[in-house]
Amino acid sequence: MIFSKDIMLNQWILLMVVVLQHGAIGTMVKFNNGAFEDIVIAINPGLSEDDKIINNIKDMVKEASSYLFIATEQRFYFKTVKVVIPLTWAAKPEYARVTTESYTNADIIVADPFIKYGDEPYTLQYGGCGEQGRYIHFTSNFLTNDSLLDVYGSRGRVLVHEWAHLRWGVFDEYNNDAPFYTTGVNKAEATRCSADITGQYIFRTSTGKTRKCKIDHRTQLYEVGCQFIPNKKQTVPASIMYMQSLPSVTLFWCISHNKAVAH
Ligand SMILES: *[C@@H]1O[C@H](CO)[C@@H](O)[C@H](O)[C@H]1NC(C)=O
Repeated sequence: MIFSKDIMLNQWILLMVVVLQHGAIGTMVKFNNGAFEDIVIAINPGLSEDDKIINNIKDMVKEASSYLFIATEQRFYFKTVKVVIPLTWAAKPEYARVTTESYTNADIIVADPFIKYGDEPYTLQYGGCGEQGRYIHFTSNFLTNDSLLDVYGSRGRVLVHEWAHLRWGVFDEYNNDAPFYTTGVNKAEATRCSADITGQYIFRTSTGKTRKCKIDHRTQLYEVGCQFIPNKKQTVPASIMYMQSLPSVTLFWCISHNKAVAH
């Protein structure tokens, strides 16, 4: 894969919030020739000051840009990002003044956990498949605590997964409500994408021991409580919307196969 130099270059504009303006409503992201420009990432004014948040946002977007570029077969990348920093944080000479960007129209917000999700990153989607979402939510713990990398994979990969929710309105390719499907008599498989992802079917007993799952003969599916644990070692490249944390995964399934990316 060949990257031209300017594709890998992100421009940073750090902004201090002066007032919460009610100018623009909704995203101000521009799309030019494969580049997403002027993505607004806003830090909630209630969060305590931490430069690590700003630095890790930069690293995350940089990594996400190259990952997105590969995942979309060199069609999309992130070019310019504006970080809106709370006015209560120390001012720095490199910060510019906010014009119309604000917390309320940000594409990505950094804020306290929303109870239901804890530190799990999520995208507020209320439209149907294919409709843009409202914003991506990251917690400060997600951005600064490296022990969460084991759970979600690198932050850049997570951002690409969430960006696909936000921008293209694609849904997750895992299904917590129907984790298994039957493939024949006494045979079941985990719902996953792609189906070539290998793994183990593990049941955790109340004493904390693990054993292989059994098939429930009534439903022809794995027993309730059975979990599909993908092997860390895989060769399949899809899909980011199923599990971006698997090292081999670098492609979207539906996007790469249907060439159906809208922008
Ligand atoms: C990092 O996250 C882990 C898992 O949520 C938590 O147990 C730990 O206390 C966190 N560390 C810090 C410094 O917040």
